[in-house]
Amino acid sequence: MLVWEDDSRSTPAAKPTSMPPPLREGLAAGAPMSSPARPLTAAIDRVLAPQTASPAAESGRRVNVADKRIINGQTDVNQLVPFKYKWAWEKYLATCANHWMPQEVNMSRDIATWKDPKGLTEDERRIVKRNLGFFVTADSLAANNIVLGTYRHITAPECRQFLLRQAFEEAIHTHAYQYIVESLGLDESEIFNAYHEVQSIRDKDEFLIPFIEAIMDPNFHTGTPENDQRLLKSLIVFACLMEGLFFYVGFTQILALGRQNKMTGAAEQYQYILRDESMHCNFGIDLINAIKLENPQLWTAEFKAEIKALFLKAVELEYRYAEDTMPRGVLGLNASMFKGYLRYIANRRATQIGLEELFPNEDNPFPWMSEMIDLKKERNFFETRVIEYQTGGALSWD
Ligand SMILES: [Fe+2]
Ligand SMILES: [Fe+2]
Repeated sequence: MLVWEDDSRSTPAAKPTSMPPPLREGLAAGAPMSSPARPLTAAIDRVLAPQTASPAAESGRRVNVADKRIINGQTDVNQLVPFKYKWAWEKYLATCANHWMPQEVNMSRDIATWKDPKGLTEDERRIVKRNLGFFVTADSLAANNIVLGTYRHITAPECRQFLLRQAFEEAIHTHAYQYIVESLGLDESEIFNAYHEVQSIRDKDEFLIPFIEAIMDPNFHTGTPENDQRLLKSLIVFACLMEGLFFYVGFTQILALGRQNKMTGAAEQYQYILRDESMHCNFGIDLINAIKLENPQLWTAEFKAEIKALFLKAVELEYRYAEDTMPRGVLGLNASMFKGYLRYIANRRATQIGLEELFPNEDNPFPWMSEMIDLKKERNFFETRVIEYQTGGALSWD
């Protein structure tokens, strides 16, 4: 996987048909009310997309791949196959093959560096604490957004399968940040409350939260142009601006520390997280493009203008975060270098979802970040561990 490869392969939309929703959960339509299966049907109906919830619409039809839809689908979400969105399944397999756990990374050098008064400068310590302050809660927001928001609105089971894996990875990321906080003996309440108490972090979260809450609202359902656009906007904010932009100042800073042989355990954890997030971002972009293909009426000039304004706001907020975390130049980095980097990333994200570049002709000031994302299993950049770090790869029967 290359860092900036355009991974936005989407499956062309098929023509809608009038096929009714299928039988779900093996419960026969018209089963007697005394059947013990009835309450289960009702319970399951509540967790399915609302438009599939009419018992009267149930029939014995098998899933036809052409009828599957990313949103507002009528096919049985419990039947993973036949596959329609193979890109989602392939990404699910790829994320499983990248499995890792935080406690397998050796933190002893980081602990010694942190305890040594001369181990890090005050500016470097500020970077570490600000970073953890943002990330310890950011990945919980991400997990909640998936589990309580996005998941129920997506009617393609291949995509749901990826989201389930992604939700677990967000838990691993929160675990990793907590593990670093605990290893270094940092003040937990200071770090975990940073999103309330540090303005530059709070501003980023306050930008995100309305888009998360909009789709978590139990009364929110897709199926109207306005609500479908609301979901699409939330997906764009989450994939392109949260996972795809708001994480990048922090990732770059910690990986820059690692490149100078400082905090190498934390840097290794961030490297694995960066690889995961890159996959999440690419999946989100595929999802957005697939929804666009299936629902071209949502992609209006007005909607695009709204998205563009959100991109500009996000770049501004992340740049302010860069300034706050780096009041002076540190590690060969300074805030103004990030202005170019954030514009470069925003251009990538915009073009990946079919918008024009927002800041033409921006170059990447940190090409080494590309290598960090393109992590090969046999390579352990910071040499904190000697074992191969990829599991669950494909079996070979040769
Ligand atoms: Fe994450
Ligand atoms: Fe993520």
